[in-house]
Order: sequence, then C-alpha cells, then structure tokens
Amino acid sequence: MKMQDGFLWGGATAANQFEGGWNKGGKGASTADMMTGGTHTRPRRITTVLEEKTHYPSHEAIDFYGHYKEDIKMFGEMGFKTFRLSIAWSRIFPKGYELEPNEEGLKFYDDVFDELRKNNIEPLVTISHYETPFGLTQKYNGWASREVVECYVRYCDVIFKRYKDKVKYWITFNEINILTIPFGAFMGGGIIVDEKENTDEIRFNALHHQFIASAKAVKLGHEINPNFKIGCMIAYMCTYPNTCNPDDILLAQKKDQISNMLCGDIQVRGYYPSFAARYFEEKGIRIVMEEGDEEILKEGCVDFYSFSYYMSTVESADPTVEVVEGNLLGGVKNPYLESSDWGWQIDPKGLRWSLNNIYDRYQIPLMVVENGLGAVDTVEEDGSINDDYRIDYLRNHIIQMEEAVKDGVELMGYTMWGCIDLVSASTGEMKKRYGFIYVDKDNEGKGDLHRKPKKSFNWYRKVISSNGKDLE
Ligand code: BG6
Repeated sequence: MKMQDGFLWGGATAANQFEGGWNKGGKGASTADMMTGGTHTRPRRITTVLEEKTHYPSHEAIDFYGHYKEDIKMFGEMGFKTFRLSIAWSRIFPKGYELEPNEEGLKFYDDVFDELRKNNIEPLVTISHYETPFGLTQKYNGWASREVVECYVRYCDVIFKRYKDKVKYWITFNEINILTIPFGAFMGGGIIVDEKENTDEIRFNALHHQFIASAKAVKLGHEINPNFKIGCMIAYMCTYPNTCNPDDILLAQKKDQISNMLCGDIQVRGYYPSFAARYFEEKGIRIVMEEGDEEILKEGCVDFYSFSYYMSTVESADPTVEVVEGNLLGGVKNPYLESSDWGWQIDPKGLRWSLNNIYDRYQIPLMVVENGLGAVDTVEEDGSINDDYRIDYLRNHIIQMEEAVKDGVELMGYTMWGCIDLVSASTGEMKKRYGFIYVDKDNEGKGDLHRKPKKSFNWYRKVISSNGKDLE
C-alpha cells in the first residue's frame, strides 16, 4: 500500500515567524509583533508599547516578504505539492476592526499565490496563526470580546472572495486548543490577563468565540466557493498514563479530553461534548451562549481535521514523578523516549497511535500540518549542514504515518514544520532551527539572510518524488 495519489507533501510556516515586513505595505502590528525574543531559559516578554532598543524577532523574521520568489523556487525544487502559510490578518486589516481592507496587503498574497501556482504548489492557508491584530487587543482585549467574531468573519469574507480561485485549502485557526492553557491567552487570543487571576473563564469564553467564528467562516467559505476545503487545526499531544494505576489512566483520559478532544469535537461534530459540562462546573467556568449559537456550530462543521504533532506526553497522579518540558504541555518523563535539545520527548509511534485514534473518532480526512525537529545546526567549514538527526526524526515519523495509512486512516497530506528556518514561536529564537533550508540569521537578529539547502533538502526531495517510498 502506498500514499494516495495527489498526497499533499510539503512544508509549513506562519507569517509572524517568517514573513517579516511587519510594518511594510500598510501592515499593522500583530500580537506577535509585540513579543520580544527569548531563549530556552529566558521566556519571551509581551510588551504593550514597542521598546526602542528591544529585539522583536517577528519584525524582520527571515524576510519572506522580500524573498518570497527565491524561497518558493526552492520549495519547488524540493517538489512540494503544497505549502502551508498563514495570512497576516493585520496586513489585510491593520488594526483588525476597520471596515475596508488594505489593498497593498491583499496584493502581496496575490503575488505569493501566483508564484506558488507557477511552481505547481497548492497553497494551504491558515487564516489566523498566533497573529491577531494588536489593535483588537487594544480595543477589545482580543478574543475575550465577542465583537472580534464579526471582525474575523469580515476578514474571512474579504480573503475568501479575493482568493477564491487561487486557494482551495483553508485552516480557520492554528492550534485553537492553545486557549485551553494559561500560556495561550495572548498568543492564541490576543488577550492580556493578570497572570495571578484565574483566567479559565476568560480563556474558555474566548475559545467559544473562536468556535463561533470558525463555524461562521466554514459556512461562509462554502457559500463563496463550494469547492473550498476548510479544516480545524489542533495541537495534538498523544497522552499516555504513566502506569496502569487507574488513577493515572483516568487522569490521562481527562487530559486527553480537554487538551486534545474538546476542540476537535466541537469543530468536527458541531456541538460541545458531554464531558465539557463537568469540567466547566468544576473549574467555575460559565460559557456565555447566545441564542442561535448551537445552530451556528452545527452549520459550520469542518471538512478535514488537521493537527500538529511533535511529541507525546505522560500523565501521572503521583506529584513526585519527574516532570519534563514540551510543546504547550509538559507532562512527566517517559523513560522509553529520547528528547530534543529543547526537552520535547520524541515519539514517532505516538503519531501512528494519534492518527488511528483521531480517525476512529471522526472518520473525516486528516492532515499532519506540523511535525519536525527543532535543533541547533552547525555550518561546516566547507559550508555544508549535515542534519542527519533531522532526517532521522522525519524518517521515523513518516514511517509511522505510513503505517497508520495501512491501518486504514484517510490521510490527505503532510507538511513538515518550518521547512525553511524561522523564528521559534515559544522562545523567539532563530537558534532552534527546523528547516530543510538554512537561513543566515542569529538570535540577536544578525546575519545576511542568505539561504542554503541542508543535507535534508535533497533527502526530502527524494521522499516526495517517490511518494514516501524512498526514505533512505
Ligand atoms: C506549534 C506552532 O505549536 O509549534 C508553531 O503552531 C510553532 O507556530 C511550532 O513554531 C514549533 O514550536 P517552537 O516553539 O519550537 O517554534
């Protein structure tokens, strides 16, 4: 058995992490533009006013804005069938709440989509990827306010109509489930909260606003072009119990329900799952449901389910067990797995498990839209970058993904995260590199931005041309 014909092999990015040109062409500041750089041990800071001497990694990022032709050409050389990028909402509506869009911003994405088509690459567009216009934070405290739903739907209306013949695949929100954790308030919702207060109610209501916005966007998109395929996107963390102790098993199940399943259930099935009620009650969360919301959710179910997968987590009811780091969520140490330099536990078989689990539950096409290894790369004296560790990571995950297809999972595509080096979302670093393409830029923003293929570049080219058969 092989991957289906037309399988969407490719790479993934987000505007705030690679586009740069943060104030060019009429663009306004996004929430990401207000976040400083950081490191593995020094967290990024949120600033409400730009500080003069501070380095803001998104402002230039890797300047895809000025290099898009060169970058897309390299994606074409690798044989990409698809390229996942996000539209910077504040390039289209600089403050987020204007009534008329910014033509120069719209034109930029026209050019990018045309360039992709020229290289036979299908765009896969995330409508909102951790880059809410900062104007919406200032005016409404972001997604905490229901007013933002209307702004988002207006933005969708503009981009759906403008690109209806250029883009077929859309994702309404990147990792929408980031709002289930405190860390996600600003990044996922543009919400500024006092970290000392209990933010659960604010975040889960903001999440409800995003569910409503997503459902309205799906319905609208299908009206504008019935051929659109519009998906949800979840940060999926395969969750194991630490032992067969029933307490660990129940804890893992609960974590899985809230962190992984809640958002998919609502976006795929069109209603809140029954387990949500008890969780909300125990946490003192009251979701403000307006009349008609249930109908809206039902009418806006997504066409496909996409997710990011980097690692698995382990839950233990025993508070003395050693905890580790991870993508959004940590968990306890899994002695059977190795970790990346950033402490993320690498688990290719967990990807097979996750694909099976998700498909069993929803029975709609799936897509892995993020997977990859953040690592420190060394440029050798002869200029080469021998990233065998990245090849190993990707090979092992692709093998398990193919096993899941043999298990019967309907899989549309795979876009490796950060196919070109870009700014890390969690730490704001350039040092944490994911790409097949190296970009000369460091954590302080120094470097001439020139691009060069790493060893993994040619490896992935062969993977794509063999439709996933040649993994050596
Ligand atoms: C995902 C995000 O959570 O993980 C991306 O959707 C992010 O935006 C990716 O870049 C990898 O995380 P990080 O922190 O290593 O950049």
